[in-house]
Amino acid sequence: MSTTTELHEIAVKMVSGGKGILAADESSPTLSKRFEKLGIESTEESRRTWREMLFTTPSLSSYISGTILFDETFNQSFSSGQSFPEALTSLGILPGIKVDTGAKELQGFPGETVTEGLDGLGARLEKYREKGARFAKWRAVINIGDKTPSRTALVANAHALARYAKLCQQNDIVPIVEPEVLMNGFHTIEESFRATRAALLSTFEQLALFDVVLSEMVLKPSMVISGDKCEVQATEEEVANNSVECYRQCVPAAVAGIALLSGGQPDALATSHLNKMNSLHKDLPWPITFSYGRGLQDEAMRTWGGDKNNFNSAQAALFKHAQANFKAACGEL
Ligand code: G3H
Repeated sequence: MSTTTELHEIAVKMVSGGKGILAADESSPTLSKRFEKLGIESTEESRRTWREMLFTTPSLSSYISGTILFDETFNQSFSSGQSFPEALTSLGILPGIKVDTGAKELQGFPGETVTEGLDGLGARLEKYREKGARFAKWRAVINIGDKTPSRTALVANAHALARYAKLCQQNDIVPIVEPEVLMNGFHTIEESFRATRAALLSTFEQLALFDVVLSEMVLKPSMVISGDKCEVQATEEEVANNSVECYRQCVPAAVAGIALLSGGQPDALATSHLNKMNSLHKDLPWPITFSYGRGLQDEAMRTWGGDKNNFNSAQAALFKHAQANFKAACGEL
């Protein structure tokens, strides 16, 4: 068993000094959809190749502290024969694993979901830890609509997040706790603020109930942002100020750090928002960095297009975005 101090050290390493996390944990169906849009064939081997290409980007570990894997990739190997978690560890990148099994319809609450995956989770975490996982991720999905989020959906999702986080810590794994408020919809930034605040408060209430050690976890929230179909789009400064204010109101100072998701924002905008948060707010109790999926990978995927001749330029695209987000996490873009 690691001591609690070791988990804290890992959590700190994940979010400090401007480094952030590469979220490459899309499930196979999700990644297949992204490949299909670009005309890339999706097979076990093409998904493996794509991820090996991402992770072998020269000097990636200067900006990326860890990466989140999906189960399929976690059990695959680099072309060298080394398993993904082993190869990542030798590249100086902490391997993480997505352990939820997805957001499923919340019975009796139309339009809302609860994330599943708690059954057998302790045993799965033990195996992942043995194979090299140092952290895990669980994503709750909160929808803003006319009558949502309901208190029921907020509590159900927060409860699952807290049970997951507790199990992670009991298995020597740092939990990334991700209550994502979706940016899809017509809602204003004020509505996003209220929903994000409610989701975070519910989450921390349940984390306290389950005695989750806050210094041994990383929070992965969404930004407070106008819905993508809202007529009035908040400025970058408004997004930064509202997000930071919301986190200040809800996130205890003991949390090791905040690593934001990009949530479908254009990649440059996700980077600018992160930069504004860190350049406008210098006295924060926790580091705010990135744990982006699309925000880091979009350009690299388009550039690669499934063709090995484009490996170098695709890696250069990933490197460029990792470096820009590193600077943004330092507020120095
Ligand atoms: O759970 C969500 C992903 O890990 C982050 O992906 O940055 O594309 O929203 P995203």
